[in-house]
Parts: sequence; structure tokens; C-alpha cells
Amino acid sequence: MRTRVTEMLGIDFPILAFSHCRDVVAAVSGAGGLGVLGAVAHSPEDLDTDLAWIRERTGGRPFGVDLLMTSKYAGAKEGGLAPADLRAMLPAETKEWLDALLERYDVPPFPERPAANGGRRLSVDPKSFAPLIDISFEHGVGLLASALGPPPAWLVERARAAGIPVAALAGRLDHAIAHRDAGVDLVIAQGTEGGGHTGEVATMVLVPQVVDAVAPIPVLAAGGIADGRQVAAALALGAEGVWCGSVWLTTHEAETAPTVKEKFLAATSNDTRRSRSLTGKPARMLRSAWTDAWEEPGAPSPLPMPLQSMVVSEAQGRIHRVAHLGDNGARQLITYFVGQVVGQMNTVKSARSVVAEMVEGFIDASERLGGILAQDE
Ligand SMILES: Cc1cc2nc3c(=O)[nH]c(=O)nc-3n(C[C@H](O)[C@H](O)[C@H](O)COP(=O)(O)O)c2cc1C
Repeated sequence: MRTRVTEMLGIDFPILAFSHCRDVVAAVSGAGGLGVLGAVAHSPEDLDTDLAWIRERTGGRPFGVDLLMTSKYAGAKEGGLAPADLRAMLPAETKEWLDALLERYDVPPFPERPAANGGRRLSVDPKSFAPLIDISFEHGVGLLASALGPPPAWLVERARAAGIPVAALAGRLDHAIAHRDAGVDLVIAQGTEGGGHTGEVATMVLVPQVVDAVAPIPVLAAGGIADGRQVAAALALGAEGVWCGSVWLTTHEAETAPTVKEKFLAATSNDTRRSRSLTGKPARMLRSAWTDAWEEPGAPSPLPMPLQSMVVSEAQGRIHRVAHLGDNGARQLITYFVGQVVGQMNTVKSARSVVAEMVEGFIDASERLGGILAQDE
């Protein structure tokens, strides 16, 4: 397949895989697409290790890194706060509500109380993500992607000087225009059906508008793409490639928690919700007793990034620790980010076979469309 995106990135198929799992990233890059490692929760040391690991397994094929670069987070005025200052902002009432919720579902406490560090913090402020960007440059990544906001000017300049394309995700037309004005090389138009942070407009509606607004910058379509027919539809809308996140979560390579994988394989497309309960910003995830509880009267208001993920970190750890032990309350509560394509994710496959099936399905769909045109005898 050839589009401006395959040319820009030096890949065989314009299929990009967002994943937090280095195995998925390596597998998709190895299969001729481009794997992009979600690194918002990585420490600089872990990112260095993971990128070296991916590089060893991809034999010179490109791979990318994705970070959250939002301007709206707790401590934005100060350009980021120290962990202790952020911890001091976590409301006692939210912690009490979470303890009561877990008690209601019989989720045991940790045998030993973990250090109150709020878990691994999301690196959403420039002070925290700058070291991750330095490491990405050191490893010569083939793409840097920015979610939840345009990349800062210093990053665009530095990437341009290094010849590394910069992409940014947009869930609304005005976000796409801001990315264009920030000088990105690629815009990813992500519809509401996608997993993770997501807006309200559907992919089918958003993509053509973004394509027109940012031309001649090429666009990737995201949200609701998991097979070749959906790839063909995305390219028909004017996108020059696809960016998929959910479909990899039930692959052999994904480190998705076993209970979550099981729930995904059984779920239908009606079983997701947009909820602010895990990160503070609306993100699509599997509906569960957890998402329902956050919608009940009396539930606390979700906190701004990165406070919400800090405040729920211990509760999430407790749920994940015991959810696989049977049909218990933790199993009812457990959830994870996933999009509406979860209804299509019914068998465990390798990431390589997902890419191959997307390409085959794209060829079939294109031939079918070509056959619709009436031919002169
Ligand atoms: C588990 C999960 C975590 C995600 N985390 C991020 C993230 O950290 N950064 C980001 O740019 N997008 C993130 N996304 C969104 C994906 O990049 C992608 O746009 C989305 O999954 C596309 O829709 P799909 O899920 O229907 O394939 C995440 C998606 C999922 C499923």
C-alpha cells in the first residue's frame, strides 16, 4: 500500500498501532506497520529499556513514542508540581468514598499498605515529559505523537531539525486546526468510538472535516478501526492511514490483565462508557460496576490530571490484585480503556495476523467497491 503516510514514515502499510506494550509495538513494526509506544506512565529508565528492546527486535524498521501534552492539568500555572505537593491536593472524601466502594464489593486491602506515592504518576507536564522526549530522540524514533494538546513549539523545532515527524491526536475540528497551526506533520482524527481519551464526534463525521481543514497535511483516522473494511472506509474518507488502539488489547502479545482480556472477548459494542473516573478526562472504557459507581448520586467529582489517576491508584491496584481469583466483586469492578470495536474483538490473535487480516480485508473491500461501478460493455 502506498500513501503519503507510508512514504513519510518508511513503512509498508499505513497501519499504526498505539500500545503500552512493547511486544505489540515491535510486532506491528515488524509486520510492516508502525508501532507507537504509549509512554505517559513510563519512567525515563523504563522508556530507555523498552526502546532499546524494541529496536533490537525491529531490525531497523521504524517505531514511535506517544505522550500526553495537555495544557490543562493540576499545577499548570507553576509548570508542574512536585509529587508531594500533588499528593497534598488529594481530597480525603474521595479516598473515603473509594474505600467504601471497595468494601461494598468485598475487595480486600493490600496485605501491607503500599508506600503512599499515589502510584506511577502520569507525566503530563513539560518538566516530567521532557526527559522522555530526550530519550525518544536518543533512540532515533520514527514518530513522536502528542495527545490531548498540540506539541510545544520547542518540540516541533527539535523534531524537524532531527527529521522526526510529529503527529497529534484531535477529537474535534478546532483541535485539528490548532495542531496544524503548531506545525505538526500528521494529524490523527480520533472519533468518539475510540478507546481512551475521546471526544463526542464520530470518526465517520470527524475525519472528512479534518482532512479538508488541515490539507495538505496528511491525516490518520482513528476510533472504531479494527478490520480491513474499516481501513478501506477510513481511506475513502480521505485519511491516508489508520491509527488503532483497542484491537491490540486482545492479541497474544498484549499484557492486558487476564480478567480484562476475558471481559473484552465477551463484550459487545454497547458495553463501553466515556468516563472521567480513571484519569480525570473523558476516556472510553469497558462499562463495569466501577464506571456505574462513578455515575451514582453522591459519587465524587473526578479531579484534574494527574490527580485523578493518583487518587484511584491504590483502589485500582487492589482490584487488579484479586480480580482473577474468581467471580468476585473485584471482577465486577475491573475495567480498562477500550473502544466500541470491543464487540469485534472475539478471539485472541497475534498482532502480526491482525495487520495481515487488515491488509487482506482492505484488498477485498477495495475490489468490492471497484466492482460497484457500472462498466461500459
Ligand atoms: C488502552 C488504551 C490506552 C490509550 N492511551 C492513550 C495514550 O496514552 N495516548 C494516546 O495518544 N492515545 C491513547 N489511547 C487512544 C489511542 O491512541 C487511539 O487513538 C484509539 O485507541 C483509537 O481508537 P480504537 O480504540 O477504536 O482503535 C488509548 C487507547 C486505549 C485503547
